[in-house]
Formats: sequence, C-alpha cells, structure tokens
Amino acid sequence: MEPSQSKLQAYLVRLCAEPPFRLVSRALVKRFARSMRTQAWWDAVERPHYLMGVLRAVDQAQRQGITEICVAEFGVARGDGLFLLEKYAAAVEQETGVAVWVYGFDTGTGLPDLCGDYRDHPDFYKVGDYPSAVDAIRGRLTNRTTLIIGDVRETVEGFVTETQRVPLGFVIIDVDFYTSTRDALKVLSHPRRNVLHRVVLYFDELDLDFFHQWAGEFLAINDFNAQNAHVKIDKWHGVHKLRPFPENPKLLGMYVAHDLEAISRVALSRPPIARAT
Ligand SMILES: C[S@@+](CC[C@H](N)C(=O)[O-])C[C@H]1O[C@@H](n2cnc3c(N)ncnc32)[C@H](O)[C@@H]1O
Repeated sequence: MEPSQSKLQAYLVRLCAEPPFRLVSRALVKRFARSMRTQAWWDAVERPHYLMGVLRAVDQAQRQGITEICVAEFGVARGDGLFLLEKYAAAVEQETGVAVWVYGFDTGTGLPDLCGDYRDHPDFYKVGDYPSAVDAIRGRLTNRTTLIIGDVRETVEGFVTETQRVPLGFVIIDVDFYTSTRDALKVLSHPRRNVLHRVVLYFDELDLDFFHQWAGEFLAINDFNAQNAHVKIDKWHGVHKLRPFPENPKLLGMYVAHDLEAISRVALSRPPIARAT
C-alpha cells in the first residue's frame, strides 16, 4: 500500500471517529464489522471493557510466545458478565489462535459477611445481595468456562496451586467489598502465581461518589501495592487515547498488574530499532 493511501485512510478513520460522525460510524461497525478488535475500539459490543481486556491479554501472550491463557471474573452474580466474557473469549480465540479459558468465582449465595466497618461500605451493601442460580448458570456455560463456587478467601489458593494450568491474562474484579477484592487480588501475588508479565484488570467499583481511597477497591489496590514488592497495580495509562468514545466511564476501571520480577528477567532478542517513527 502507498504511504499516501495509508495516510488518507488513517485520516478518514479519524474523521469517522469524530463527533457527530462517530455515532453513525459505530452503528455501521455494529452492523457490519466482524473483527473483535474493531468492535472493541468502537465500543460496539455490550461490554467493551471486557473485550478490551481479553484482546490485550492475548496481545501480551503473543509477545511472550504463549499460546494458551486464562481470564477470570471475580463476582458472577446472575452470570451476565460471565456469559459475555465467555463469548468474547471464544471470538478472540477464533480470531487470534490463542486459546482463552474462562473462570468465574462467586460464593453462589451472594455477598458474604462484611468486615464490620466502613471499608466494605456497609451503608450500601448487605449480606446476601446478588445471589447466583449456580446450576442454571452452569447449564448455560460451555466447557471453556469453569465456575468456582466458594468464598474467594478460600478458593483462590486452590485455584493457583491446583486448578490453574495456563497463565492468567485478564481479571475482572466485581466483588464489591474491600475484603473480597483484597482476597481476589492474591491470585496476582501468590508465590506460585501463574500470570502474564502484564495482567489487565477491570475494577467495577471505582466511579461512584461513595467510593474513596480508604475503602472498597481503591483501598485493596493501595494495600496490594504497599504489601507486594514484586507485582504492582497501576492505571492502564493511555487507555482513552484515540478512542472514538474516550468518555466511556468503564475505561476508568481499567488497570494493569505489572509483574516486576518477571519483567526484570526479560532480554529482547530483536535487533536494535533503526530510527524513531
Ligand atoms: C455485583 S455482583 C457481580 C456482578 C457480575 N460481575 C455481573 O457483571 O453481572 C457481586 C458478586 O460478588 C460476589 N462476591 C462478593 N464477595 C465474594 C467473596 N468473598 N467470594 C466470592 N464471591 C464474592 C457476590 O456473591 C456477588 O454475586
């Protein structure tokens, strides 16, 4: 392709992504686009943030020469998110050739006991909120997906040491409490962790006025970073960049866990880059 052609194409794509054209463009993408990457970029699926996580995980796997990964949703409730995650995993696998297995974690009986103070937002959540119909959910899942029932305080250990076969690349945290988030995040810091060098994270409870740095998911992230020297969680910097819908509030929940220990061991085998682009 001529360089001028690709510049023109890039210009047209940028134009289509600008208001007011972007709404029409998205409608066309929803109707005609088959590529999962295109659909994710245009927010043309029900949960673009889930699809972005799966795609980014697969990109990281390919960078590391890995052909099989898993992704997980902590907090399943009725299964709405897990069914979509399974669907996106299957489509991305088909498109990229990287196998994507799916895990869902939940008590099955809804929110467990609260910790007893402000950290689990007792003025908002109650024991038993969001129960799951476990058999019905299992009945709708394919063999790509495993539902792990129990409190994550107990199930994460067995998952890492016994169940998990392939590296984890994307984690959705939607367990509402500080305590449950703290326990779920141990999947990333366990001494026997099996994770990609970068694990994409999506936190669902960050963008309402009653959330703050001293409770809930924010506190769990801060604790994680304070207690773990080898893995650090940070915002996904640049996640909004050049997207047609950068105002999507779900983008605020996109984070990345960087395995500093593993990254320190990397030595690139490619030749030096000749010039800056
Ligand atoms: C808001 S709901 C999840 C919604 C789901 N992600 C969706 O998109 O439809 C929160 C879920 O987290 C689960 N949960 C909270 N704390 C947990 C814990 N410690 N262990 C396992 N599940 C937990 C609850 O049972 C509840 O179903």
